[in-house]
Amino acid sequence: MYENTERKWWKEGIVYQIYPRSFQDTTGNGIGDLQGIIKRLDYIKSLGVDIIWLNPVYTSPNDDNGYDISNYRDIMGEFGTMEDMDELMSEMKKRDLRLAMDLVVNHSSDEHQWFVESRKSRDNPYRDYYHWWPAEKGTPPKRFSYFDIDSNAWKYDVPSDSYYLHYYSAKQPDLKWENPKVREEVYDLMKFWFDKGIDGFRMDVISTISKDTDYPELPEKYKGDFIPYYAEGPHLHEYLQEMNEKVLSKYDVMTVGEAPGVRKEQALDFVDEDRNELNMFFHFDLMGLDREPGETFKMRKEPWKLTEFKRIFTEWDEVFVKKGWGSLYLNNHDFPRSVSRWGSDSKAHWKHSATLLQTFLLSMRGTPYFLYGEEIGMTNIKFDRITDYQDINTLTRYESIKKSGGDLEAFIKNEKDAGRDNARTPMQWNTEPHSGFTVKKPWLKVNENYKEGINVATQESDKDSVLNYFRNMVQVRKDHLGLVYGTYRLLLKDNEKVYAYAREWQGEQFLVLLNFSTEPSSVSINEFSFEKARLIISNNQAENTQIGNNFELAPYQASIYKVF
Ligand code: GLC
Repeated sequence: MYENTERKWWKEGIVYQIYPRSFQDTTGNGIGDLQGIIKRLDYIKSLGVDIIWLNPVYTSPNDDNGYDISNYRDIMGEFGTMEDMDELMSEMKKRDLRLAMDLVVNHSSDEHQWFVESRKSRDNPYRDYYHWWPAEKGTPPKRFSYFDIDSNAWKYDVPSDSYYLHYYSAKQPDLKWENPKVREEVYDLMKFWFDKGIDGFRMDVISTISKDTDYPELPEKYKGDFIPYYAEGPHLHEYLQEMNEKVLSKYDVMTVGEAPGVRKEQALDFVDEDRNELNMFFHFDLMGLDREPGETFKMRKEPWKLTEFKRIFTEWDEVFVKKGWGSLYLNNHDFPRSVSRWGSDSKAHWKHSATLLQTFLLSMRGTPYFLYGEEIGMTNIKFDRITDYQDINTLTRYESIKKSGGDLEAFIKNEKDAGRDNARTPMQWNTEPHSGFTVKKPWLKVNENYKEGINVATQESDKDSVLNYFRNMVQVRKDHLGLVYGTYRLLLKDNEKVYAYAREWQGEQFLVLLNFSTEPSSVSINEFSFEKARLIISNNQAENTQIGNNFELAPYQASIYKVF
């Protein structure tokens, strides 16, 4: 029996993720800003969502679009000022919307004052804020890095004749959590934001903050996939518990850790309530489903299968049966748009597959996270040319393939499905130039399909739009607590077309039927009697056919029944 049903606002809440650079420009520089978000708060509220997760808005030289922070207590000039931030927070409070910010403390920017000092000399007071390897010890043991052409996480630095560690770009040096002063700095900045009134943090790559500071050779078994090694630092849980004790326990806030490399078996170490660490985390099993093993961004050859998709969600549901709580997401700013990846962005199936995916996320157990634009079914942009990309990840991988004489054409093809910029194109508001996102040239191209109905204004005026379906489905979840807390039971486990499951809560049963296929599918559900069943929502009412225990589902049809 499920035991972790203690009610919490962050369990019942629906999260809406905003990539501020791409949401709404109000100054005409082609870059979204805080005033833009303020301008759109009524829209966000109208969706029925409860919590905004804001990607980083702190001062940053933007090597990785704000994930390289040079001042944790100020706002990036392009986005506005601290006054704008205060205004955003107060306008959100007026609308009863909560705010979770991004906490990026595995690394800072190399332009952060701490690093500027640290690199000056070996005896600088900030030296021990980062990981250094003196050059006289020889070349440091191999560590892999994202956003580095040679995938080398050690960078030689002249002033102190030493190497520093960076798991991401060379402009993102890793902070040394082993130093208690660093931890105090982090706790202080968290308090700074909590005291300002924010409601939580999404913690960037929090699974990798602890390092073995002897920096041993990478054990053989991790050479094909180094991420799990990074996620097994010796003091990780000590730090999270300390952070909880010193900061989190003092506020009514939510935490969700981004946890690449964390396996199911380790999940409860993070979110078991009795351990006092985090509330939720994002696992990467689904994000890795259509990728080569150990490769976050390389598409595998065979298409993903629905049975694999079901297995991931079903196994992760089991993890949180007694303790902890899950988070549900199908995309974010690092992974392609959900409809292009898990549904179909073809003309014929876009609408039903986008709404099917919404139905899925909003009828599962766990807290659902939606990426801006997912509510209107925004799709991958699939750039043909490398010059259209802005993302450091795509650009450095391109350079690295070029350097080694690899297949650049294959890479461009790969990025159409895997590139992060697919998920970062400007929000599609209306049919005005640049989709109403900006009046000037946007920092990243707008997807032209804003002219063909994928925009807010057009969908507002169509009661059958993807947007209005999203609102209805949000309401269905709000009206039925069983869709939040109820038990989950997979039906038709081996069916490669239809995902079917039952949710049960305090005597109420729900049957969710999702045809993840471009073909009509018929299924029989024999577990229930449907004499008094009531359809509570369907993304294709006209095609909905039920005769006794038999259901005919149109392509990408999604239906939820209440079964008595
Ligand atoms: C996380 C972020 C990603 C960023 C990286 C480094 O994975 O989601 O966007 O590039 O961390 O901070």
